[in-house]
Amino acid sequence: MTKGRFIALEGGEGVGKSTQLRLLAQALRAQGHAVVTTREPGGTPGAEAIRALLLDPAGPGWGPRAEALLFAAARADHGERLIAPALARGEWVLTDRYLDSSRAYQGGGNGLDDADLLTLHRIGSLGLMPDRTILLELDPALAAARLVARDGGNADRIGGRDSAYHARVAAAFRAFAAAEPARFARVDADGTPEAVHARVMAAITA
Ligand code: TYD
Repeated sequence: MTKGRFIALEGGEGVGKSTQLRLLAQALRAQGHAVVTTREPGGTPGAEAIRALLLDPAGPGWGPRAEALLFAAARADHGERLIAPALARGEWVLTDRYLDSSRAYQGGGNGLDDADLLTLHRIGSLGLMPDRTILLELDPALAAARLVARDGGNADRIGGRDSAYHARVAAAFRAFAAAEPARFARVDADGTPEAVHARVMAAITA
């Protein structure tokens, strides 16, 4: 049995993560791998329940610290009940967002300390990290146009934050990629889904 790998797709809103996740899963399955696809926040019934609490625009809203704890709690359930068991079975796990989203949004966006977020991850998820993190990067104007096409302007509670917030998120992602070049692959998300997919495959193979 081949060893499973844990791959996270990261990036801002509208960069095409879910399309690329689908194409990557298809390609890996065609190579004979068992593949589980999932997302954050979510992936298990408990984490999906927390997702609704976090993202519903009609929900109560949370302060930055409560928000970070809820994302960490969702991730703890996701890791324990879905990701770790799949990896133990030798399957590949592809997730649409993971820890670096908390570091970028709750850290870069909301100003929480990165070391605190990593400590929360150690407490909640035993520090489980992806083997590789694909960071999809796209010019904010192009990403905004894709979002209008997808959501028709109906952003969720976090997606709807202002452009300065999203610029801080993008800068944080870039800084994490620069700090950990062995784990991160930066992929230009401009172009057709197939063109971007080819870049993602090259990043996985490397
Ligand atoms: P989603 O609809 O999955 O957005 P996208 O299609 O852009 O990935 O909603 C996830 C939202 O939650 C998104 O705005 C990013 C945010 N988020 C955080 O703020 N912290 C986190 O740890 C995670 C996983 C997501």
